[in-house]
Amino acid sequence: MCGIVGYAGERTNEDVVDVLLDGLSRLEYRGYDSAGLAVANSSISVVKRRGELSALEEAVPADDLEGFAGIGHTRWSTHGPPTDANAHPHTDCDGTVAVVHNGIIENYQPLRDELEAEGHEFDSETDTEVVPHLIERALDRGDDVETAFRRTIDRLEGSYAVAAVCADRETVYAARQQSPLVLGVGDDGYFLASDVPAFLEYTDEVVYLEDGQFASIRSSGVEITDESGAIVDVPVETVDWDPEDAGKSGYDHYMLKEIHEQPRAIRKCLRGRPRALEGTVSIDELDDVPRPERVHLVACGTSYHAALYGARLFRERGIPATAALASEYAVDAYPVDDGTLVVGVTQSGETADTMRALRDAGGRGARTLAVTNVVGSSAARECDHVLYIRAGPEISVAATKTFTSQQVALAMLSSALADARSREFVEALRALPDRLQSVLDDSRAREIADEYVDADAYFFVGRGYAAPVAREGALKMKEISYRYAEGFPAGEFKHGPLALITDRTPVFAVINREANAEKMLGNVKEVASRGAPVIAVTDAPEAVGHHADHVLRVPDTHWRFTPILANVQLQLVAYWVANRLGRSIDKPRNLAKSVTVE
Ligand code: G6P
Repeated sequence: MCGIVGYAGERTNEDVVDVLLDGLSRLEYRGYDSAGLAVANSSISVVKRRGELSALEEAVPADDLEGFAGIGHTRWSTHGPPTDANAHPHTDCDGTVAVVHNGIIENYQPLRDELEAEGHEFDSETDTEVVPHLIERALDRGDDVETAFRRTIDRLEGSYAVAAVCADRETVYAARQQSPLVLGVGDDGYFLASDVPAFLEYTDEVVYLEDGQFASIRSSGVEITDESGAIVDVPVETVDWDPEDAGKSGYDHYMLKEIHEQPRAIRKCLRGRPRALEGTVSIDELDDVPRPERVHLVACGTSYHAALYGARLFRERGIPATAALASEYAVDAYPVDDGTLVVGVTQSGETADTMRALRDAGGRGARTLAVTNVVGSSAARECDHVLYIRAGPEISVAATKTFTSQQVALAMLSSALADARSREFVEALRALPDRLQSVLDDSRAREIADEYVDADAYFFVGRGYAAPVAREGALKMKEISYRYAEGFPAGEFKHGPLALITDRTPVFAVINREANAEKMLGNVKEVASRGAPVIAVTDAPEAVGHHADHVLRVPDTHWRFTPILANVQLQLVAYWVANRLGRSIDKPRNLAKSVTVE
């Protein structure tokens, strides 16, 4: 969705602007159709532009802006198209209050009607603009700034993280309700952001704000209060992310860097959990979770594909499990009770559809568990239990390392909750990082991408554990190359998609020696005989033989993990196709990394 930053501290003038622009550049993955910032002094200076952050950087005056405290925003539009006027920050009639916001203010229309009737003039189509006008009205009625801000927030319904600055105040005021907001405690000031990477180069000391809390930051300190105005004492936590994790480390794109970080990511995900001697997996923080009677996995996008993979693992361990798209979960009215474990698979921990499904299920008596990457995220805080996937920051909108880590985390979770015992499984888990490294070291994905960059469409198929990965391969291709791609269980080819097959529609077939290889070969022959080029992504090139035009090799591993490795080949194919096409790989058009609207 949108990204928010804020700073107040000892830095002044151009330093404040630099801190804000740096922070926004780290948050661009959250939205990038317009950006803006405001700094406060005796007046408020606002600069905002439609387009990517570079447009804002160019628009910031050469002599910079004067200010002691500032806020910034990178937008993914919901209310009104991306224009300069709709970009944040938004101001009141006098331009003495500026506000940035992430989320949706559901009651903005009646608020706007009320304010317009009183003579307030609006410049944008956004829901956000009611906020500075509400603050202005409260100030006009004699409130001090803090009270005016609090009174304003009390009027808002929906989800929001809001930050505001006011002329003559060296303070940033902030509040949150169901949208992420983190405080950073630095040596020379305090930071606010939607996500930790925004200020990681300045500090790794963070405070995760809770729903309903207010914060005001100024150079002399931070004050956090609850809804009643009482000061709350919040713990300062240290994050163990390396600032370098949030940079590109010499790669052309974050996506390629994150693909290459996967061995390290899953090593961290595994750390301390598999027990080689016993052949078990033990997740200390979930020791008190009983074996569930049934599991519902809810998720969106790429995380849904990990959930499909995880559900199969649970079922094979004897625990009935289904994966549902979070946006459809409530619609389908899945029955739950206290024997049901509802697992929200969400790398960001903030996706609105997933949060809604978790809250509904929790409210109906189910136990909830978040599988997430983001410490302190809404899912982590609101679920009964949390399993962190420990993938480190993922900046590219297209999820790669978090998907792999989710699959590994779910493999461990299903083993731990089912009390499964298999040395072969656990040894294969521990060997996965090295196997994955060998895929990266020896992939022919770039050649394949070069050969098929002009294809009309791409198909991805697999069976069993490989079916979710086929879906994910297609999703990755369409997200970043903007080319038509479809992924589905291979048996479905003959029930429709076969009609689309030509010699310009390459088919990527994930073939696992020990799982349905013969049936997959049957499907491969069906498409090959109709002229489609076939690329087998397989651990069994000898079995595939002349039935495929090309082979992308997957190293030997436990057969349940073959698709995890095959997926890495598919990530690389999508990356190189998009690269050849010159696409905006890390920030694909119309998409955002964290979608906080339903
Ligand atoms: C967005 C992102 C996807 C992601 C999905 C779910 O659509 O672009 O990459 O898979 O949200 O996100 P989550 O944070 O819940 O895993």
